[in-house]
Amino acid sequence: MSQDLFPVKPDIRERAHIKTMEEYQRLYRLSLDNPEWFWGEQAKMLTWFHPWQSVFDADYKEVDFSWFMGGRINASFNCIDRHLPHLGDKTAIIWAQDEPGVYTHITYRDLKHNVARVANVLLHNGVKKGDRVCIYLTMIPELVYTMLACARIGAVHSVVFGGFSAESLRDRIVDARCKVVVTANEGLRGGKKVPLKRTVDRAIEGMSLVECVLVARRTDSEVPMQPGRDLWLDEETAKQRSTCTNEWMGAEDPLFILYTSGSTGKPKGLLHTTGGYLTYAAFTHKLVFDYHPEDIYFCAADIGWVTGHSYIVYGPLANGATTVIFESTPLYPDPGRYWQIIDDLGVSIFYTAPTALRALAQAGDDWIKKYSRKSLRILGTVGEPINPEVWRWYHDVVGDARCTVVDTWWQTETGGILITPLPGVTPTKPGSATLPFFGVKPVIVDPATGIPIEGNDVSGALCLGAPWPGQARTVHGDHKRFRETYFTQYPGYYFTGDGARRDEDGYYWITGRIDDVINVSGHRLGTAEVESALVAHEAVAEAAVVGYPHPIKGQGIYCYVLLNSGFSEGNQDQLIGALKEQVRQAIGAFAAPDVIHIAAGLPKTRSGKIMRRILRKIASAEYDGMGDISTLAEPDVVNKLIEEHQKSQ
Ligand code: WTA
Repeated sequence: MSQDLFPVKPDIRERAHIKTMEEYQRLYRLSLDNPEWFWGEQAKMLTWFHPWQSVFDADYKEVDFSWFMGGRINASFNCIDRHLPHLGDKTAIIWAQDEPGVYTHITYRDLKHNVARVANVLLHNGVKKGDRVCIYLTMIPELVYTMLACARIGAVHSVVFGGFSAESLRDRIVDARCKVVVTANEGLRGGKKVPLKRTVDRAIEGMSLVECVLVARRTDSEVPMQPGRDLWLDEETAKQRSTCTNEWMGAEDPLFILYTSGSTGKPKGLLHTTGGYLTYAAFTHKLVFDYHPEDIYFCAADIGWVTGHSYIVYGPLANGATTVIFESTPLYPDPGRYWQIIDDLGVSIFYTAPTALRALAQAGDDWIKKYSRKSLRILGTVGEPINPEVWRWYHDVVGDARCTVVDTWWQTETGGILITPLPGVTPTKPGSATLPFFGVKPVIVDPATGIPIEGNDVSGALCLGAPWPGQARTVHGDHKRFRETYFTQYPGYYFTGDGARRDEDGYYWITGRIDDVINVSGHRLGTAEVESALVAHEAVAEAAVVGYPHPIKGQGIYCYVLLNSGFSEGNQDQLIGALKEQVRQAIGAFAAPDVIHIAAGLPKTRSGKIMRRILRKIASAEYDGMGDISTLAEPDVVNKLIEEHQKSQ
């Protein structure tokens, strides 16, 4: 065993749901040998209106998976109503507002009333079962109300992260054919106003598809309201009753669409369904974070991404937890913000991303030491590989070497956590996501041959060899794309897009994306999306975008740009600024390039294919070991690029 092994902490084991490695291994084997029995047992943690007829059906050829067929269930009922008899007065949501120290507690009973009112507003505005509703909001309670209101009436929500641009929002509204958009006049984040309504107006300008825009009121600012289309949400909810019947949804009826980037083309709308997703979200939330009813649970993600869907909203609320929604940023007004919230609220489980931890570690330990953090027990991380030194810092400094760190690997497509330690079971190693969760069968495939590699101490493409209830069922409106993206590269397996190593102890180490997706501050971004934004600018003839190591963001965005004739003269600073702005406008501020490298040429094969491997190396200042460049149409290009890169450093 590696010497860098952190044993399970006895007091954490003591209270854990699963306490021994033997128990984990026994259940793990059962989950793979008899998934029908295993998942049938777990699904009983939810309340069903009607039992399922079969736990699992699959058509592997068509890539069609269904769980709990024949079962009838409602996600909103499971997250709210069923808790009311015993937890009506328990706090469901603590809204930590942008302003430090300002908290709003929302009980399960309040949650029910608020959700039912929004559901009635949606019904009143013509939303029916199966209709799609776009939600474009920052972190305010109305975001959760609207998600659960959709679930209540059987509408499908498509949450678009509040940092996306009008253009990205428009694409997503059109792709999902949303009739209704729910937004706010403005958002507040880190003391700044986010012009949500204005962005929606631009996104849907001239579009007849959207019939109604519901506008929550977060600030006092007035915004233009288009008569016949725009309504204030608070005025509408005030007219509605606080009860609304739950639709009995089929287990495989859609619950939500969530867009994510792939290696090519436009973002895909991954579709998650109801019964399997909720079972998986609730079960993983309970075991991975070792959730108990007295916990205060704080996941600092944004609900605009999948982490927020599964581990701020659905998993915790299905378990009757108190979940924190955080409107601000880890650095506002200072780098003590998370720890202040943890002390103020008595948070026992905290879940965040390595990018935030890197920024906070850099700000110095004094910010942490200022707060006691004594309520903490479990510290989670997700979204990108965590550097071992940051892991240690999280464990030693934030957790005072007393808390358990769970590095959880998963994806938008997987619905929930797949590779992770369990607090009472798994000795941890800094930087490793450790072992598979129940029902999860990781397979390391040799990318050259497509053949699975058995045994330990091996690396390759990370695939999954068994279905699990939380997995996405399709790409909205494009099942062919779903099949081709995930199931054709290595037939018989789901391909994750990640590379991984299985070490000598059978522990998994995720090494990062091996497709053309980069991970910028935990946000997934297709390099192709950034390239198409750049070439839309009149000055740009060609663009190639790669990731490079960035101390805070994990990966930074490095853009090689070839200019059209007539644009290459004189001072380029202004043009570089304009190109960065171009990408912000097309995608969103989080996608703004870190580096624009105006290049004289790009390394291409004789058949015209850009050799990205070389571009990645140069962007990372690794000038040696370029490999065979004799196949390049113009080998000189490489030296030229290196020269330009060196000059810019
Ligand atoms: C990366 C986020 C290493 C990975 C839940 C994956 C990770 C992508 C980890 C999915 C982790 C996520 N260690 N890498 N613990 N968690 N990733 O869809 O590359 O936004 O494919 O889902 O993030 O990003 P997504």
